[in-house]
Amino acid sequence: MITDTLPAEIERVLLAEDELAGLVGELAARLEQDFAGREPVVVGALTGAAIFCADLVRRLRLPLTLDFVSVSSYGLSSVSSGEVKWSKQLSLDIRGREVILVEDIVDTGETLARLQEALRAQSPASLVTCALLNKPSRRRVRVDVEYLGIDIPDEFVVGYGLDYAQRFRNLPYVGVLRRSVYG
Ligand code: IMP
Ligand code: MG
Repeated sequence: MITDTLPAEIERVLLAEDELAGLVGELAARLEQDFAGREPVVVGALTGAAIFCADLVRRLRLPLTLDFVSVSSYGLSSVSSGEVKWSKQLSLDIRGREVILVEDIVDTGETLARLQEALRAQSPASLVTCALLNKPSRRRVRVDVEYLGIDIPDEFVVGYGLDYAQRFRNLPYVGVLRRSVYG
């Protein structure tokens, strides 16, 4: 049984491997339909979305190109200024291209709002966002997420790319971190 093998820091499994695969399949099916006959650029947000993005693109039977960005937000201002600190810029030119931004989780929405603005500043023909997880109760800024995997409660989750202090990204499931670890 899987609970026998959970790391001590993980309280419980929130989304098991097969549930994650189901969500990825549903998102891929919608994207495939909406982008049929087109050649989107998929942009994964490092590091959290790397694993989700890797699974997602392998389910997309589209002639896509793939790139990654790594950003962190400046400060804590809730004013979405598009100002982000880039650790890794885009390698591809997205001007005039149809972009699918892939994120792991939308929490307050600040990171995503700024990332969207920063990408829009590079004049793509269109921009949609695909996020695996959403914590609606924590939202502080309005962001559009056209392709959303699943709403989750306000708990800190790790695994399937998501970290706590850079750990647990390699867990194949999404698990709830024990409060005693961070609280
Ligand atoms: P936001 O800017 O508040 O929406 O934060 C989004 C970022 O915070 C995500 O890209 C994650 O890196 C991180 N984050 C938010 N909630 C969690 C969580 O439950 N587990 C791990 N990382 C999280
Ligand atoms: Mg992140």
